[in-house]
Amino acid sequence: MKFAYADPPYIGQSKRHYKNHKDYAGEVNHKELIEKLVSEYSDGWALSLSAPSLKQILNLCPNDIRVIIWVKPFHAWKNVTPSYGYEPVIVFGGRKRKDYGNKSVKGLGYQDWISANITMKKGLTGAKPERFCIWLFEVLNVRPEDTLDDLYPGTGIISEMYTWYISQYKEDASDIKEIAKQNKQEIRRWL
Ligand SMILES: C[S@@+](CC[C@H](N)C(=O)[O-])C[C@H]1O[C@@H](n2cnc3c(N)ncnc32)[C@H](O)[C@@H]1O
Repeated sequence: MKFAYADPPYIGQSKRHYKNHKDYAGEVNHKELIEKLVSEYSDGWALSLSAPSLKQILNLCPNDIRVIIWVKPFHAWKNVTPSYGYEPVIVFGGRKRKDYGNKSVKGLGYQDWISANITMKKGLTGAKPERFCIWLFEVLNVRPEDTLDDLYPGTGIISEMYTWYISQYKEDASDIKEIAKQNKQEIRRWL
């Protein structure tokens, strides 16, 4: 299956946060982006966005999407009450769980939210934490034969974690729980 993850700059924030970044190219056209996701990634995709832009972006999406939530217990406190302590992720499709039985490396993808602190000192605003990456893979239910195109790579953490995540399946994809057990130590590094 062919999946995509899009983590573009928040609407109206591109210049402020990324003007000095090598892949900065002005504001992202979200209508075009969602059209691309829908037409090129019919197996599944996910799109991160800011809570204030949720209504605007949902209006551009097909009906059969889910909104799942990254909760940030530690997050930036601005002069806004209540603070912005979560980030929505719009998800379409994904591999049906019954295809492989109800198994995954960490079991984070059974719930529609994850709790993970924001990253610091990564050199890029909006860099995703490792726990978020694993949750995303498990919500889409990726398997070793899949591809995941990271459309806004930033630090490259999504691809790095994807390579690690897929490697957990290498020995025997039929018994994921056993693999998870064997790799407990390594998995703990990310959680
Ligand atoms: C939210 S960050 C991606 C963070 C990434 N997922 C991570 O975890 O490291 C958005 C990225 O898009 C880049 N960018 C900014 N404007 C862009 C544009 N118009 N088209 C493509 N990329 C853009 C930024 O420089 C930044 O690297």
